[in-house]
Amino acid sequence: MRLKTAVLAACAGISLFPVPRAEAAGPKIGLSLPTQREERWVKDKQVMEAEAKKKGIDLRVQVTDNDAAKQVAQCENLISQGIKILILAPHDASSASVIIDKAAKAGIKVISYDRLVTDSPLDYYYLSFDNVKVGELQGEFITRKVPKGTYVVLAGSPTDNNAKLFREGAMKFIKPLADKGDIKIAMDQFVKDWQPSEAQKLCEQALTANQNKVDAVLAPNDGTAGGCIQALAAQGLAGKVPITGQDAELAGAIRIVQGTQSMTIFKDTRELGKKAIEMAVDLAAGKPIDTKGRTVHNNKKDVPSVLLTPLIVTKDTLDDMLVKSGYLKKEQVYRK
Ligand code: BGC
Repeated sequence: MRLKTAVLAACAGISLFPVPRAEAAGPKIGLSLPTQREERWVKDKQVMEAEAKKKGIDLRVQVTDNDAAKQVAQCENLISQGIKILILAPHDASSASVIIDKAAKAGIKVISYDRLVTDSPLDYYYLSFDNVKVGELQGEFITRKVPKGTYVVLAGSPTDNNAKLFREGAMKFIKPLADKGDIKIAMDQFVKDWQPSEAQKLCEQALTANQNKVDAVLAPNDGTAGGCIQALAAQGLAGKVPITGQDAELAGAIRIVQGTQSMTIFKDTRELGKKAIEMAVDLAAGKPIDTKGRTVHNNKKDVPSVLLTPLIVTKDTLDDMLVKSGYLKKEQVYRK
């Protein structure tokens, strides 16, 4: 009789006996993200949370809001919560090496997510896209469109190793033409914290200093491109000056369709987020990650790396690559 009651209760989802709070069956994993102010990072968080849920992982998320000291404190807090693995997208590449130290002392493995933590002699993994390739795609595109003329060259945040890699890739195409005298670089600047408003200010300055004679803008991502396009629009130049982007953000895609932004780079955050959770689960189970010998140098050592492939998107390919693939919603991209 008692058994029957218990079975019925179980079927109805009722517990007859007090039980401790249900713990997720999978490992406890920490995730530290730089921001949620950019669509790209919102997507990363959503994907990883959904994947973690599917796999029964207890994922503890912290967002630093572009504050390096806060990121250290938040990661210390995650470490004290007993996480097994830390997925870390650093705001400040170099100072985040302290987090690797602290994690190592607590026996926690770290996956440097999207952005490389630099200057650490310790062992960790890096999961990202081929970021030099991102810059190459931007640089090749813009120099093909504008092989001669005056350029504004912007790079991302100086605290982000990716910003350097994107710039390095793009400069492989821009520098030889600048050395030849075909391209004049009117401005070459990093953008603090990747802020669109900073990018806008820099573009305004460049336009003023060059009597609006700017022929091309290398903007490192869609956010900064948006800032620059506002500066161009104020001078009636939006859509007339080719400008790059990155991230396949909705706002960037809308501008591409409308003709004010020339391209973007598609880095499928669905793939990256999924891979991060997969790697974390393997590491928690003590399985090494097969990086097929690929590494990226962090100023101290070669870090074993998994690098996904970035893809270029233009007006001609946007529909297939971003809409049909389900990355962006048709009604949002083609809104009137
Ligand atoms: C990421 C870009 C992003 C930028 C600003 C970089 O590290 O790779 O996708 O646009 O940070 O958040």
